[in-house]
Amino acid sequence: MSKTISGFSKLSKSEKIDWIVNTYIFNNENAKDILKQYWNSNKQLQQLHDEFIENTITNYYLPFGVAPNFLINGKTYTIPMAIEESSVVAAASKAAKFWLDRGGFKAEVISTKKIGQVHFKYNGNPELLKTYFSYIKPKLIKDAQPITVNMEKRGGGILDIELRDKTTDIENYYQLHVSFETLDAMGANFINSCLEQFAKTFKSEALNFEAFSTEEKHIEIIMSILSNYVPECLVRAEVSCAVKDLTENNNVSGEAFAQKFIQAVNIAEVEPYRAVTHNKGIMNGIDAVVLATGNDFRAIEAGVHAYAARNGKYSSLSHAEIKDGIFTFWIEIPLALGTVGGLTGLHPLVKLALEMLGKPSAKALMQIVAVAGLAQNFAALRSLTTTGIQQGHMKMHLMNILNQFGASPSEKENLVKHFKTETVTHSAVVEALEKLRR
Ligand code: MEV
Repeated sequence: MSKTISGFSKLSKSEKIDWIVNTYIFNNENAKDILKQYWNSNKQLQQLHDEFIENTITNYYLPFGVAPNFLINGKTYTIPMAIEESSVVAAASKAAKFWLDRGGFKAEVISTKKIGQVHFKYNGNPELLKTYFSYIKPKLIKDAQPITVNMEKRGGGILDIELRDKTTDIENYYQLHVSFETLDAMGANFINSCLEQFAKTFKSEALNFEAFSTEEKHIEIIMSILSNYVPECLVRAEVSCAVKDLTENNNVSGEAFAQKFIQAVNIAEVEPYRAVTHNKGIMNGIDAVVLATGNDFRAIEAGVHAYAARNGKYSSLSHAEIKDGIFTFWIEIPLALGTVGGLTGLHPLVKLALEMLGKPSAKALMQIVAVAGLAQNFAALRSLTTTGIQQGHMKMHLMNILNQFGASPSEKENLVKHFKTETVTHSAVVEALEKLRR
């Protein structure tokens, strides 16, 4: 049977499922039931999800959890998180509680500039191109007015357009490098629409620019697209307290804890193998909130990792120091987020998540997300430099192992109690479950 098909998107949902099951999963008689089990019984809600993308055949659930007790700039938040990894919400909650008693988190937005580019080829005198650019710039802005008018009314819009000569990288390659302020919108559609309009005007008006030769008049537009590299859409979050106050009810002094913690951060600052995992831990917190609030986590990931490598070597996004007896731990991170547009007004859970956060502006959400990343990083480093990561991680993973072996509610209760004092490993859980069942 052929495993390719044309006109698939035109089939009905059940025809699509029939084709998938008959073509690829014909050995599994439950396949259709599994797919249908995840459909929402509310037809309207299901249709909303069906229409988010093409060829939807079912929904893919992620747990939607909350981490309470975050004190940020003096205001308390319960942070929504959508994530599958067992220990992330627990770790965030633990870090939130730890810092709640020590003054909480402070966060500030440093800048909110976003970038888009028109990439084009021009074969001719660079000086003439500069003259043409200065001449046409006001018209570029004017022709984009129907797109920018509403954004401008709210205080945003195009900040600047620059001509950039990239001919040392690629022959005849230039850019219109444009900066934008998109306020509470992530702004991808706004930016791309503006760029496509600039490209149109820039190309067509060149044909009438008399100083250009025939060849110079024929500017070739390669593409117009926003950049997800946003080093000037930056937020900083930090925690700090007296070193002596870092102690908890254990044998480790605040000083010893802080010293080891800072060494762990220093290692991530200089060693890319460690930095990637260190930053992955930060992204555990960041992605979870980004997803719960309906933002584009791929854009965030791409921008954040590029920023982590901005000095030519991949490095830690967070930093720590002790100064005058005060321990400070901070992160500076680019986050282009939106609280209007996209999924934010469409997805009922996203709307709820934003309500839970007090309907934040994009700037407030940047602060909350950066804090979630810092908290996650704090929790990971704290475990890594004290008990090791597996203790907490496996405790949270216990339920997954029990579910994998079909443990009943009473078996779960029994074994959760048992593993309060025992080390959780996969084999120890299987053994304990078998023993219980014998
Ligand atoms: C696991 O998802 C994340 C950690 O590996 C992060 C880290 O090592 O810092 C625990």
